[in-house]
Amino acid sequence: MTPPFITFEGPEGAGKSTQLARLASRLAGAGVPHLVTREPGGTGLGTRVREVLLDPALDIDPLPEFLLYSASRAQLVREVICPALSRGEVVLCDRYADSSRAYQGAGRGLDRELLETVTREAAGGLTPDLTVLLDLDPAVGLARAASRGQPDRLERADLAFHARVREEFLALAAREPGRFLLLDATRDPDTLEEDIWAAVGERLGPDLLPTA
Ligand SMILES: Nc1ncnc2c1ncn2[C@@H]1O[C@H](COP(=O)(O)OP(=O)(O)OP(=O)(O)O)[C@@H](O)[C@H]1O
Ligand SMILES: [Mg+2]
Repeated sequence: MTPPFITFEGPEGAGKSTQLARLASRLAGAGVPHLVTREPGGTGLGTRVREVLLDPALDIDPLPEFLLYSASRAQLVREVICPALSRGEVVLCDRYADSSRAYQGAGRGLDRELLETVTREAAGGLTPDLTVLLDLDPAVGLARAASRGQPDRLERADLAFHARVREEFLALAAREPGRFLLLDATRDPDTLEEDIWAAVGERLGPDLLPTA
């Protein structure tokens, strides 16, 4: 049985990286082989693309922005994610295709048909088995992220942009309730971690489920 591919989605500062790291330690503690990666990034190409995408000094049009994310994704899927799944490792990815739908689709207003076509190709047909959506009021998330220092290019976009992003994430979750685990990101990190662990346990299956 192929292990699950798990993605973490949600607005800036929602706690994606926090919960992904907590899940990774729980998997490690249970002796479940897993791999942690992120978008954009995760490969030599992706890391370079990430620097470009987050650079506050650059003005990038919506289409090239989307194509850069797609380039990073296409490389990550082929070089890192699919090989790890084939080796029997659970894959945890910080952001994935739903972020393109939310940010480039709803946020930037890019043509949906183009977005889906390119995303399908870039992802090579790979869709997550579980997507943890940490939902949060963008004003709260941006304030959390701001406490880390200088805002990146996307954190500088206006609040209306971030509100559209949030609504799209919620619409995606409503459309695919079986794939999404929708969580209120204002809850405390410990109880969020428990809910995520329970959902992951359901998807691990008997082959990967820790016996202890
Ligand atoms: N459940 C929570 N309640 C309150 N604060 C939280 C919670 N989870 C994370 N935080 C804090 O919010 C900030 C952002 O968390 P984190 O970096 O995990 O979010 P993120 O979704 O990965 O953000 P980004 O989109 O910028 O990568 C951190 O300072 C973190 O400690
Ligand atoms: Mg993060």
